[in-house]
Amino acid sequence: MNAAQPGILAPIPPHARYLTFALKSGARPLAELRSLAAAADGEACVVGIGAILAFALRKEIKGLRPFPHYQGEGVQVPSTPAALWCWLRGEDRGEILLRSRAIEKMLAPAFEVAGSIDAFKYGRGLDLTGYEDGTENPKGKKAVAAAIASDKRAGLDGSSFVAVQQWVHDLDRFESLPQKQQDNAIGRRKKDNKELAGAPASAHVKRTAQESFRPEAFLLRRSMPWADATQAGLVFVAFGRSLDAFDAQLKRMAGAEDGIADALFTFARRVTGAYFWCPPVRKGRIDLRAIGL
Ligand code: HEM
Repeated sequence: MNAAQPGILAPIPPHARYLTFALKSGARPLAELRSLAAAADGEACVVGIGAILAFALRKEIKGLRPFPHYQGEGVQVPSTPAALWCWLRGEDRGEILLRSRAIEKMLAPAFEVAGSIDAFKYGRGLDLTGYEDGTENPKGKKAVAAAIASDKRAGLDGSSFVAVQQWVHDLDRFESLPQKQQDNAIGRRKKDNKELAGAPASAHVKRTAQESFRPEAFLLRRSMPWADATQAGLVFVAFGRSLDAFDAQLKRMAGAEDGIADALFTFARRVTGAYFWCPPVRKGRIDLRAIGL
């Protein structure tokens, strides 16, 4: 079947940069998007198009919608839409920085940088709390089925949707919790990554157990830790063949179903939230036929 952007299905790289762009007012970004499509291979640079950009081009991508905003007791889920998303992936931070500069310059006539986050792989793929992240990701064909759309129409087969959320961890708070309480917040034992049979309903993996949703809500998570001089956390990134599984997961995490909020919310807060559509690749370049390019 498909020609998904290869960076979606590949394991997370040692280093990454997440760039988000806003559309400059009055800009017609056709030339810039064509240049980006030719320069990005979908592996070293995964590209996502936001609903705002599709709207500005007067194109509709079915299933692409604004990120939901939830607000409840102790639960804030902000929505911070952007026009364009580039996930720069690689082995070398210096090389990523230089590629980032080239993309920013290429897009500058029509887009301005709205956000830039440097991220990294920690250990064997741990969150900064020390818990392994990605254990229950679907693998092989199941990963493709969860993350990649199969669609007969040109420019849509092999595409994907992505939810991106920057989280800031309160590591002081988390580290102050006794080990048992930390394990109960995640629902796994830190020392051996075993799932806890008796975890409370608020445990993160109880909230998000993918088979427990109707329909089942499988996601391909490709999150990476980030840090600057004063703060640290996770850039949560989840690919889906639609945005429905993520929507269902987030709703339950926020307690919108049963009033029980995810224990993650007690030590981590969200500062951004956006959805993008990731076009397929064709002949080594990003295929933008679905948005008329
Ligand atoms: C600070 C943010 C987050 C952290 C630190 C985090 C961490 C983790 C950890 C440690 C696991 C257990 C191992 C694994 O299966 O990967 C996990 C599982 C999972 N997380 Fe998160 N997560 C975060 C946010 C989210 C969000 C926002 C969602 C979706 C809306 C989500 C969805 C899932 C899913 C689907 C699983 C697998 C559940 C299962 O089927 O067992 N996570 N997460």
